Amino acid sequence: MAHVNDADSTTDAVMSTGAQPLDVATLRKDFPLLSREVHGHPITYLDTAASSQRPTQVLDAMREYDETTHANVHRGVYTIAEEATRRFEEARRKVGRFIGAPDPSREIVFTKNATEGLNLVAHSWGRTHLHSGDVVVLTEMEHHANIVPWQMLAEERGITIRWIPVDDDGQLELDRLDRLVDGAKLVGVTCMSNVLGTLPPIRHIADVAHAAGALVVADGAQSVPHLPTDVTALGVDFLAFSSHKMLGPTGIGVLWGKEELLNSLPPFLGGGEMILDVRKEGFTPNDIPWRFEAGTPPITEAIGLGAAVDYLGAIGMETVRRHEIGLTNYAMTTLADRFGDDLLIFGPADPAARGGVLSFSYRDVHPHDISQILDQYGVCVRAGHHCAKPLMRRLGVNATARASFGLYNDESDVDTLADALAEAGAFFA
Ligand code: ALA
Repeated sequence: MAHVNDADSTTDAVMSTGAQPLDVATLRKDFPLLSREVHGHPITYLDTAASSQRPTQVLDAMREYDETTHANVHRGVYTIAEEATRRFEEARRKVGRFIGAPDPSREIVFTKNATEGLNLVAHSWGRTHLHSGDVVVLTEMEHHANIVPWQMLAEERGITIRWIPVDDDGQLELDRLDRLVDGAKLVGVTCMSNVLGTLPPIRHIADVAHAAGALVVADGAQSVPHLPTDVTALGVDFLAFSSHKMLGPTGIGVLWGKEELLNSLPPFLGGGEMILDVRKEGFTPNDIPWRFEAGTPPITEAIGLGAAVDYLGAIGMETVRRHEIGLTNYAMTTLADRFGDDLLIFGPADPAARGGVLSFSYRDVHPHDISQILDQYGVCVRAGHHCAKPLMRRLGVNATARASFGLYNDESDVDTLADALAEAGAFFA
């Protein structure tokens, strides 16, 4: 039986995009939520950096799996249990191939989300290798998920955290990088800032870190859904990301790690699945990746993530990236034309040097007020500190409003945002 999450079942609309510009009007029909209204207005969803919407292909894949195949994995020896295991492991390999993992079967660990992946590294690698006085280097633009686990270790182990600063254009200040990483054991860096859209030069950072003997853990939560990703080309040692930002369901994320590193690490959580043997005297951990997947994993969610990867793969990540650069360019130009100095967009001035994430301040209107007024026009943007408080402090603000794009957004969404912002401006005039 053909599974609906196979790449060849993706809609003609998506397949036909190929290397061409995205046909967003047709593609949006795959996303049922985008046809709803909010407060009498068609929804304008501009919060994909927080969570993306899901296409029918993903929703159908999960339903089809649940209706025809569901059983627990790696346990039963009856037919549907074996089918479930086969499909779960195939989803793992799809995800691995999507990011260029050298061994897609062994290097992809399913977690709850990107946050759990980063905590796994801090727990298993950090507690094995970091001791009092050791240094971890982070950037000022990290999400709390790549800060707090290291701060917890700093409290527990007495490690020191050094910070790579952010400059006024929202780029990392890398001129002193070799001194910052000198003597460090690990560098944690985001592949795309969830606030500024900045795309740090990961390969360069990884090369400098490795020359200093440090490993690199990268936060790919914002980049993997929007950019072509090849872990070998990135040169990092670990990469964490989430399904729910890349058209997949919530409840599942991914930690990729180099095989030899994963192999050398102790388990994260204990329980079923992660052992080869348990005796009264102790346990023998399972092989990778299952060593890090205690308990029943998110099986339906893995099927959904596999379908999301099929969907993105059928479009092509180069096409997604090109579309989002164009849209970011249009948004930056439109907002500058319409609002001039009243509206300040944080982060790199060059649209091609950033992802489709626009954090902004608008006059002195509080970002929560902006978001609430935009909601009256069906426009969804996030407001707040975006789980990046050190960066907020660097920018000198408590919060920003943030519009973020997905492959289903087009210029009409930007126009609606601008119209609704003008209404917000009139309201607070
Ligand atoms: N990390 C997500 C965001 O930036 C939730 O909105």
